[in-house]
Amino acid sequence: MLAIDLTGKRALIAGVSDDGGFGFAIAKALAQAGASICLGSWPPALGIFHKLLERGKMEESLRLSDGRKLEFERIYPLDAAFDRLDDASPDIRDNKRYKEQGDFSIEGMAARIRDDFGDRGLDIVVHSLANAPEVKNPLLETSRAGYLSAVSVSAYSNISLVRHLAPMMRPGGAFLSLTYMAGERVIPGYGGGMSSAKAALEADTRTLAFEAGRKWGVRVNAISAGPWASRAASAIGFIHTMIAYTTANSPLARAIDAAEVGHTAAFLLSPLAAAITGSVIYVDNGYHTMGMAVAPPASGTPE
Ligand SMILES: NC(=O)c1ccc[n+]([C@@H]2O[C@H](COP(=O)([O-])OP(=O)(O)OC[C@H]3O[C@@H](n4cnc5c(N)ncnc54)[C@H](O)[C@@H]3O)[C@@H](O)[C@H]2O)c1
Repeated sequence: MLAIDLTGKRALIAGVSDDGGFGFAIAKALAQAGASICLGSWPPALGIFHKLLERGKMEESLRLSDGRKLEFERIYPLDAAFDRLDDASPDIRDNKRYKEQGDFSIEGMAARIRDDFGDRGLDIVVHSLANAPEVKNPLLETSRAGYLSAVSVSAYSNISLVRHLAPMMRPGGAFLSLTYMAGERVIPGYGGGMSSAKAALEADTRTLAFEAGRKWGVRVNAISAGPWASRAASAIGFIHTMIAYTTANSPLARAIDAAEVGHTAAFLLSPLAAAITGSVIYVDNGYHTMGMAVAPPASGTPE
C-alpha cells in the first residue's frame, strides 16, 4: 500500500491557537501520518489556548481517526511580525500577554528549537497565519501602515521562517504556507492589503523554492484553500457568504473541509511529493477554474 509516512519527522506549525483553523487540521493530518508536532502560537491568543488544552475543552477535536490523541511536543510563543526581539516596541514587550514569554520573535523561536532539538531537528514547517489590522477596509482606503503590516505579518514572515529554519532542516525538508485566491482575482471585501499579501506569498513561494532549494535542498509550496469559517476568516465578516457562493459555483458543488486541506498538506510535506516545489496547489473543489457563475444573480435569471 502506498501510504503517507512521516514517522520520525518533526513538524513546526506556525499559526495555531485554537482548534478551528487550517493549522490545527494540518497538525492532525501530520500527526496521523506519524510526525511529532510543535506549534508556534501568537502571544495574545496563547493564554486562552493553554487554558483550553489544560481544562480538556478540546478533547473531541484532539482525537485522531486512529483513536490516538493529538499531542503537542512544544508550544512556542511566536509573533511573526518580529524577526528579532529588538524589533518589538517597548509597548509590546511590556504588554502583559508578551512579558512572560521570553523571546517571541522568529529568531527567538528558532533558537529555542535549536536548544530543544539540536542543529538539525526539523523536517517540516507550516506557515498558517495571517493578520491585517485594516482587513475590513477596501484597498483604496487602506493606510500605508495597515498595508505594510498585512504584508509584513502575512507574507514577509514566511520568508523569515524559511531563512531562520531551513538551516535546521534534515534532508527532505519541506515548507508550506496557506494562501487564498484573493491574491490572483478580486474578492470584494478581502481588504486591508490582505490580497496584496497573498499575491506576495504566492510569488515568494516560487522564488523561495528556487533560492532555498539551491541553498538547503528544501521544498517550498503553498496551498490555495477555499473559504473556511476559521476564527481569522470569521473576523472578515462575510465568510458564510463566500462559502455559499463557492459551493453554488464550483465544479464540486460542496464546501471544503479543513481536513481536506490537512490531507493535501500531509501529501505535499511527505516524500511522496519529493519533486513538487514552487507550486500553489488549489484545495477549493475546483472553484478557481470557473469563469462564470452557475447560480443566477440574486436579482433573477439573466435575460
Ligand atoms: N479560512 C479561510 O477561508 C482561508 C482560505 C484560504 C487561506 N487561508 C489562510 O490560512 C491560514 C490560516 O488561517 P485560518 O483561516 O485557518 O485561521 P486561524 O485563525 O486558524 O489562523 C490564523 C492564525 O494566525 C495567528 N496570527 C495572527 N497574527 C499573528 C502574528 N503576528 N504572529 C503569529 N501568529 C499570528 C492567529 O493567532 C491564528 O492562530 C492563513 O494564512 C489564512 O489567510 C484561510
